[in-house]
Amino acid sequence: MGAGKSTVGPPLAERLGRPFLDLDRELEHALGMTIPELFEQRGEPEFRLQEEAHAIAALRLPDPAVIALGGGAVQTPSIRNELAGRAFTVLLRVDPDTAWERSGGRGRPLARDESEFRALYERRRELYGEVADAQADDLDGAVLAAAGVQVEPRALERLGSLVPGDGSVALVTDPHVGGIYGAAAQVALGPRLASVHEIPQGEEAKVAAVVERLWTELRLDRGGVLVALGGGSTTDVAGFVAATYVRGIDWVAVPTTLVGQVDAAIGGKTAIDLPQGKNLAGAFHWPARAVIDPGTLETLPEEQRLEGLAEVVKTGLLAGEPLWELPPAELVRRCAAYKAALCVRDPQDEGVRVVLNLGHTFAHALEAAAGYEGLTHGRAVALGLLAALRLSGRPTEIVEQLLRPQPVRVDRERAWAAMQRDKKVRGGELRLVLLNDDGPVVEARPDTEVRSALDGLIAE
Ligand SMILES: NC(=O)c1ccc[n+]([C@@H]2O[C@H](COP(=O)([O-])OP(=O)(O)OC[C@H]3O[C@@H](n4cnc5c(N)ncnc54)[C@H](O)[C@@H]3O)[C@@H](O)[C@H]2O)c1
Ligand SMILES: [Zn+2]
Repeated sequence: MGAGKSTVGPPLAERLGRPFLDLDRELEHALGMTIPELFEQRGEPEFRLQEEAHAIAALRLPDPAVIALGGGAVQTPSIRNELAGRAFTVLLRVDPDTAWERSGGRGRPLARDESEFRALYERRRELYGEVADAQADDLDGAVLAAAGVQVEPRALERLGSLVPGDGSVALVTDPHVGGIYGAAAQVALGPRLASVHEIPQGEEAKVAAVVERLWTELRLDRGGVLVALGGGSTTDVAGFVAATYVRGIDWVAVPTTLVGQVDAAIGGKTAIDLPQGKNLAGAFHWPARAVIDPGTLETLPEEQRLEGLAEVVKTGLLAGEPLWELPPAELVRRCAAYKAALCVRDPQDEGVRVVLNLGHTFAHALEAAAGYEGLTHGRAVALGLLAALRLSGRPTEIVEQLLRPQPVRVDRERAWAAMQRDKKVRGGELRLVLLNDDGPVVEARPDTEVRSALDGLIAE
């Protein structure tokens, strides 16, 4: 009661692309009376019976929905059963003072007397903890909980308790990250840690030979968990190994770069590179958890931070909020939540997730024209964002100030050809993610406009 279910519920449902059901409201509607009236006229036991029937019916609906349960519903054992079997249950945390402030003296039958209200809160507290699959404090927290993403200062120290199940754990990391955070991770994993595997730093790890070596080294059974500690390269290759080893085991991503924390560790895409191109062999294999400790960013070199900042600016532009102005931990949390919601809605990248490509069509063309050398992804995205904003008729100052994109020296024809290839792959039409007042839109633009936007990113 008073945790904010009716406030958080509707926007949460919207972010996840699901209908919202408020059980108390449904019940009132079905019975043609308010809940205080129901309590008054028929008593609490009758209310609980009605609540049980409606809750179970809602939980058995075939299509996923966001459902707000009444505060006392989990006291009914059959509802708890149904929750365990069919729902992902998020407890919205609230302290008793706030809860009373929000619910007290408003005619709610169980919130009339403050001391009784507080006693009820205490009685229910333990039960809530048992029923909840995850806990959250606000809308973004609920999105992250639903996506299995834990953003928390010092999360690394709690890694042991954040790795699901009780199977053996194999830790995969690169020598650099392992040197800084490996010992802390090993201590946190404790006796469950069965082996540690070192892979090369950066993109060099994303090759078939590394996958094969890990396949051979691992001694996990199907209940084992692979923990990937490092940047996007580490989580991409380790996630792919987890997707394929003994036909798939659970894995936990522990991203330590800004790119990893706001992008690579979220959404379940895993991949390695082939000689023909980047990310050409991979799988969708959602990590059982992403454990994000923003504190690990403190050791990140500046150029690596800038790589991530490009995705942060992209996310802020998409969300229509200056997320880049937030302090680091909150910035990571908000950006991670933005991506997580889209990925929960569109796990296989067949729909709404496309907006995450803002600036990326141009970026990919420039990267291809540069032969994937001398131009980092972040710098290419910074330029791509510039082009997308120009084509959208929107101000470009933020990108210029924060990312300082510099025109690249690449062959114009080669860049344009790369864009045309992209177009062919997408069925003959180049659909760009652009921005308007309501947020992102996907649009085709005449070749001449696109070409001149691309040319504007290339140095003379
Ligand atoms: N799966 C996805 O959805 C997705 C999304 C975005 C990017 N990616 C992939 O991510 C990769 C890029 O990842 P990245 O940008 O995180 O870089 P990275 O993983 O290549 O790491 C870069 C360097 O940073 C070092 N490093 C990592 N964490 C550190 C820390 N906390 N302190 C000091 N040094 C640290 C590493 O040792 C490494 O040398 C690309 O291969 C890209 O394709 C995947
Ligand atoms: Zn990107």
